[in-house]
Amino acid sequence: MKVAIMTGGGDSPGMNAFIRAVVRCCLNLRPATSVWGVIDGWRGLVDGNFKKLTKKDTAGIAHQGGTILGTLRVPELKDDRDMQEAIALNLHDNFFDYLFIIGGNGSLAASNVINNIIKEKGLRTKLLVTAGSIDNDVCNNYGYSIGFYSAIDKSLEMLEWIRDTASAHRRVYIIESMGRDSGYLAFFAGVATGAEHIILPNDEVDYEQLVNLISERDRDTRIIVAEGYPKTADEIRKILEEIFARRNIKHEIRHVDMGYFQRGGKAAVKDIIVASWLGYVMVKDAFEGVDSGFYICFHPGENPVRLPLDVAADQSKTTHLDIPQHLKEFEAALR
Ligand code: F6P
Repeated sequence: MKVAIMTGGGDSPGMNAFIRAVVRCCLNLRPATSVWGVIDGWRGLVDGNFKKLTKKDTAGIAHQGGTILGTLRVPELKDDRDMQEAIALNLHDNFFDYLFIIGGNGSLAASNVINNIIKEKGLRTKLLVTAGSIDNDVCNNYGYSIGFYSAIDKSLEMLEWIRDTASAHRRVYIIESMGRDSGYLAFFAGVATGAEHIILPNDEVDYEQLVNLISERDRDTRIIVAEGYPKTADEIRKILEEIFARRNIKHEIRHVDMGYFQRGGKAAVKDIIVASWLGYVMVKDAFEGVDSGFYICFHPGENPVRLPLDVAADQSKTTHLDIPQHLKEFEAALR
């Protein structure tokens, strides 16, 4: 059997653990398997850029952030049928039986389109896909995406650093979090650090209320803002300063963006182990000849949910971006 591995979309810690697991499980469970890495994600699939991988290539990488294979975004791929067909044919012409993919919701959508082309044309390759994204916005009705816990770890560390200065200077900090349209990363980072307020993408913020909260606090206030919220941190700062001036409140306000720092660095243990577990299950399934599909789970050791790609790619049925009410109540109870 000949297989390839690709990392797509934004890098997320745990992608390397997935690569390592797929390479090692293939070569340990069936040593005759030929395992290839796709260089630079979707770009590498368009260009047919593959590199043979050995166990040695994956030594010591499980905990490392980023992806040793690289991942270039190819926005044109979404609508470019020629490019999509080129990928399906590249995989077929290189005799790949399976392609293992870890990536975000863009990668899942592209996998579904390419899988349909493969089926229509009767081509050889099957696609086994799992979720790698700090945004936790891929089929999150069924599990977590790899990298999400790592990004919360990084956020927690940064938020505790900010607490020190906020407290020392009696300041308000507005802290931006990545997450695209999903509020998950901002929300759980806020839960982990005990942030005073979290602004989610679709929140209707009552700024007068928020100022009441700030004015009741003795020292620090940290307000986390999810990337998907329509106002920038600077716009929020101006609104708050106007109310402060009117109500004669003296706190200083600063803002800071956690941004790309949330995405890099060492993977969380949970991401390493879940990524490794999913890689193992997916390889075993490939050896049994399963059809293309999407895999996700909550915990290592549990049977992953397996969905047909067209079902998984229908975000309206598989994914929620707003934080469910019971989690909001949980966060409020911790304040
Ligand atoms: O999807 C991961 C993510 O980090 C999002 O949170 C963010 O909106 C986006 O990628 C940034 O993308 P880029 O790395 O292309 O700037």
